[in-house]
Amino acid sequence: MRPSLRILLALLCAIPTLSLPAQDSPYEVKERVRPPHGWIQHSKPPPDHTISLRIGLPQPNFGVLETHLYEVSDPNHSRYGQHLSKEEVEELVAPHPESLNAVNEWLASHGIQEEDISHSPARDWITLTIPIGLAEKMLDTKYHVWMNPTTGDYIVRTTSYSLPIDLHDHVDVIQPTTMFAQFKPYRSFIVKSDEKPLDINTALGTLTNPATGLVVDASCNDTITVPCLAQLYNSTGYIPSARPDNAIGITGYLGEYANTADLQQFYAEQRPDAVNSSFKFISVNGGINNQSEPGYEANLDVQFAFGLSHPIPATFYSTPGSPPFQPDVNTPTNTNEPYSDWIDFVLSQENLPLTISTSYGDDEQTVPQSYAQRVCQDLAQLGTRGISLLFSSGDNGVGDGESNPTAQSCFTNDGKNQTQFIPAFPASIVSVTAVGGTENVAPEVAVSRFYSGGGFSNYFPRPSYQDEAVSGYLKALKPGTYEGLYNASGRGYPDIAAQGDRFRIIVGGSPVSIGGTSASAPTIAGFIALLNDYRLTRSLPPLGFLNPFIYQKGYAGFTDILSGHNSGCGTTGFNVTKGWDPVTGFGTPNFGILKDLVLYA
Ligand SMILES: *[C@@H]1O[C@H](CO)[C@@H](O)[C@H](O)[C@H]1NC(C)=O
Ligand SMILES: *[C@@H]1O[C@H](CO)[C@@H](O)[C@H](O)[C@H]1NC(C)=O
Ligand SMILES: *[C@@H]1O[C@H](CO)[C@@H](O)[C@H](O)[C@H]1NC(C)=O
Ligand SMILES: *[C@@H]1O[C@H](CO)[C@@H](O)[C@H](O)[C@H]1NC(C)=O
Ligand SMILES: *[C@@H]1O[C@H](CO)[C@@H](O)[C@H](O)[C@H]1NC(C)=O
Ligand SMILES: *[C@@H]1O[C@H](CO)[C@@H](O)[C@H](O)[C@H]1NC(C)=O
Ligand SMILES: *[C@@H]1O[C@H](CO)[C@@H](O)[C@H](O)[C@H]1NC(C)=O
Ligand SMILES: *[C@@H]1O[C@H](CO)[C@@H](O)[C@H](O)[C@H]1NC(C)=O
Repeated sequence: MRPSLRILLALLCAIPTLSLPAQDSPYEVKERVRPPHGWIQHSKPPPDHTISLRIGLPQPNFGVLETHLYEVSDPNHSRYGQHLSKEEVEELVAPHPESLNAVNEWLASHGIQEEDISHSPARDWITLTIPIGLAEKMLDTKYHVWMNPTTGDYIVRTTSYSLPIDLHDHVDVIQPTTMFAQFKPYRSFIVKSDEKPLDINTALGTLTNPATGLVVDASCNDTITVPCLAQLYNSTGYIPSARPDNAIGITGYLGEYANTADLQQFYAEQRPDAVNSSFKFISVNGGINNQSEPGYEANLDVQFAFGLSHPIPATFYSTPGSPPFQPDVNTPTNTNEPYSDWIDFVLSQENLPLTISTSYGDDEQTVPQSYAQRVCQDLAQLGTRGISLLFSSGDNGVGDGESNPTAQSCFTNDGKNQTQFIPAFPASIVSVTAVGGTENVAPEVAVSRFYSGGGFSNYFPRPSYQDEAVSGYLKALKPGTYEGLYNASGRGYPDIAAQGDRFRIIVGGSPVSIGGTSASAPTIAGFIALLNDYRLTRSLPPLGFLNPFIYQKGYAGFTDILSGHNSGCGTTGFNVTKGWDPVTGFGTPNFGILKDLVLYA
């Protein structure tokens, strides 16, 4: 008999809460973190600095939403594919009216009225922009400008904040306070390519991938193009439709702009039938797409995701924010954390692309647990609505990509400064699909110029959908392997993989060879968009949250990677193995097989 779904699933985004020291005042510390490694306290923020606070209210019915998420994503369940509408999801994440009242009263006691704040559609997030001095008073804290000498970034943060005791149960999280994460593109190699135009017809012969029997152009071993991926992953000849109910989306941050002229040049070279087609640009919070500043990351993501899925409608989102603060410029600055702004925005939209890929992330330990959990809950809402979310698994293997023990930099941030593997976020979230990297074509192996991010979350326990696969992997490890370095009870990632190095893209009119799991996630997104096309044209609902399908049935449509490892933290990391492993997951897609599997899901 199946165990009760409710019991199995109650753990989805649940993170054990921190126990906090009480203070002798009506205020009590709500959250305290250690200043993350690499950040030093720099100065006081200027008095006229303003801050946009986001207050997350508890979602008392999240457990019900979670049950829906798993039922509609479980190919074995009678409700598979019966995704919820935006309004249905909002009803399930609405806060308790008492929480809204309590927070409103607290805001009013500081002179903040209803018209000064804005609510998310579900009213589970409140946003307000206030002077930093008022925020300090409301949160009984002191903000500082923090500086990261390595990156040159400055941010305005605090290491602890407090709330009146009565309010603690009515607030999950307030940010920006303790959130130091600085998500970066996962892109490790950029090399200017041969300026001579690519002639994809003069292949140097062919190679046969022994793992699949599929034949690819020999040039694909050095240069990955759209036709290479179609050959390698068995989608050559599949013609998707341009139906408006299927779309693919790419997120852009940090001034990464997707250039339309470069896209045309890329199409002319690698996808001639797509020439003259483009993407819909969506500005989030005033984000721009400056055509004078083509971005390596943005161009990589749109050229491959859209090149693989043409003519499926395509969307590029640009969200501004960061580097967030210039301490020498004495003007109020946007200290928003742009990733939350994007999530807010998409949750408020009725129509969304069915597949969305993000190639940015940071170390899990730079993200406060309370915030990580809310991101997990927010992304779970998108899955429940039928959206497939792909995230790059990171380029640093099990931590810093360093196999030399004396050069490694994987230290815990818990005050103990222990050497430990450092999982990546958002790849470690249980409600998204994390994508690792491979290279070479005959056969494919785990990527080795940088290392495929992989390992086990310290925040999110292992979800039931991957119990069998992950415990199988762990059982096969020699007893004692890396004891104390990784968390065997955590969510294992990545889930799957795709090529991640030597992608030929166009930037500023010139060819560039680029690598990183940044390339892998949009590649998978392209194939997921094709699979959704296949299902939709047969009047089946879209795939939605992919992991339950992948771990139950879909894995048979992925080619197992059998060679390589993911160095980091002074070790050679984990090895790829037969079946799932925390380097390349279940391996790389075989579209031809997957399209049969998704039909009978
Ligand atoms: C899926 O359902 C079939 C029968 O409908 C059953 O045999 C199988 O064990 C189920 N698989 C899982 C993973 O629940
Ligand atoms: C593919 O390229 C790698 C180096 O990048 C090389 O080691 C390997 O032998 C090549 N494979 C084939 C089949 O040419
Ligand atoms: C693209 O547009 C140009 C100008 O309208 C036209 O000459 C060309 O044939 C078009 N190419 C394709 C592939 O549609
Ligand atoms: C776009 O980029 C150009 C070149 O860097 C710059 O001069 C211009 O100010 C930018 N435009 C906007 C609106 O940011
Ligand atoms: C942690 O330990 C390493 C190695 O001993 C040292 O280099 C580093 O400075 C320590 N970091 C902190 C924050 O104590
Ligand atoms: C290991 O992960 C679990 C959740 O899966 C968590 O409760 C625990 O704190 C983690 N341990 C460490 C040392 O991070
Ligand atoms: C990975 O494989 C190498 C070579 O077989 C072996 O020496 C090493 O112990 C393995 N590492 C792990 C973590 O299993
Ligand atoms: C490629 O896909 C086709 C279906 O489109 C399938 O029949 C075939 O078996 C697949 N080839 C391989 C080698 O997996």
